[in-house]
Amino acid sequence: MDGLQITRTQTPKQKPQGPLGFGKHFTDHMLIIDYTEGRGWHDARIVPYGPLSLDPATTSLHYGQLIFEGLKAYRAGDKLVMFRPHENMKRMNVSADRLCIPPVDEDFFVKAIAELVKVDADWVPSEPGTSLYIRPFIISTDVFLGVHPSHTYKFITILSPVGSYYEGGLSPVKIYVESKYARSVEGGTGYTKCAGNYAASLKAQAEANQQGYAQVLWLDGVSRQYVDEVGAMNILFVIDGKVVTPDLSSGTILPGITRKSVLELLRSWNIPVEERKVPIQEIADAYDNGTLQEVFGCGTAAVISPVGELKWGDKVMKINDGKIGALSQKLYDTITGIQTGVLPDPYGWVYEIK
Ligand code: PLP
Ligand code: COI
Repeated sequence: MDGLQITRTQTPKQKPQGPLGFGKHFTDHMLIIDYTEGRGWHDARIVPYGPLSLDPATTSLHYGQLIFEGLKAYRAGDKLVMFRPHENMKRMNVSADRLCIPPVDEDFFVKAIAELVKVDADWVPSEPGTSLYIRPFIISTDVFLGVHPSHTYKFITILSPVGSYYEGGLSPVKIYVESKYARSVEGGTGYTKCAGNYAASLKAQAEANQQGYAQVLWLDGVSRQYVDEVGAMNILFVIDGKVVTPDLSSGTILPGITRKSVLELLRSWNIPVEERKVPIQEIADAYDNGTLQEVFGCGTAAVISPVGELKWGDKVMKINDGKIGALSQKLYDTITGIQTGVLPDPYGWVYEIK
């Protein structure tokens, strides 16, 4: 590829044996592209994976000018593919704009990531339910202690062979509805994938974990009455045959690429979908009157994750007897089927790495 230098490692690592877990193993190479004001993005290179050397006064370490993305590569028969990678670069540019980071050239960056996956192709796992998680991120690199946008940045991509995000795989997860802490408010950064959003979520998540819940379901940051999203996934409810999910207009939730794909599939199956404000009281009422049929989260890491229990205040809602629902299973099978080439790809979601 023009404009990309490749330096291969002289000391390839041992591949992991046994269950992969999520985000524990890293491949032999990484992609780095530098940005300098006046020059733009330059010096795209694939180099051996290794530590970064940063001055302790590097601005991203202090003020969190740091955004990231998450996507996956899969084996589809004898091909290697990525799922909707241009959507990730498009979203990265939305995050970049909000965090005063310069935009990337979406097409060039997708191609550079594809080259990285090609260099580490033998790290793409093939067992069912596994994939190569791709983590692009941008950090500001000015060495300066004042608060202002940096003039220099690094775009880096690392790769991690992964299994399922939740330890139980497709078994339903328990989710704690968060009424004390807030993750995001209108006008904030909720719609971006910036590191600060995740830092702000840790305390609630830790307290939920202590009570045996896997993640929290965030409510709106002002009234705590409307559903936003889960820590690492968007959320959908099946109520009386309709799929209901928070809309994106408040700018407080991440516009998930899996969410977008799920909604496109549901509409193609003529299943009624409502994107709107979702009061948590409506979910409790649907539970009480027996019309809450399924709850599931979706995301790149989480794929489709059925929710088996929601706890809101003192109310514990056990959903679908703690089993995965029929629609959640169908979405999981369809999405993973398209990703791994088992099913046709009528939407052109799959990007072949040639
Ligand atoms: N919401 C949050 C907070 C996330 O971290 C993620 C994961 O990326 C998602 C939603 C799902 O987004 P996507 O489907 O693009 O992975
Ligand atoms: C993803 O699904 O890509 C995520 O980023 C979730 C989590 C690992 C932060």
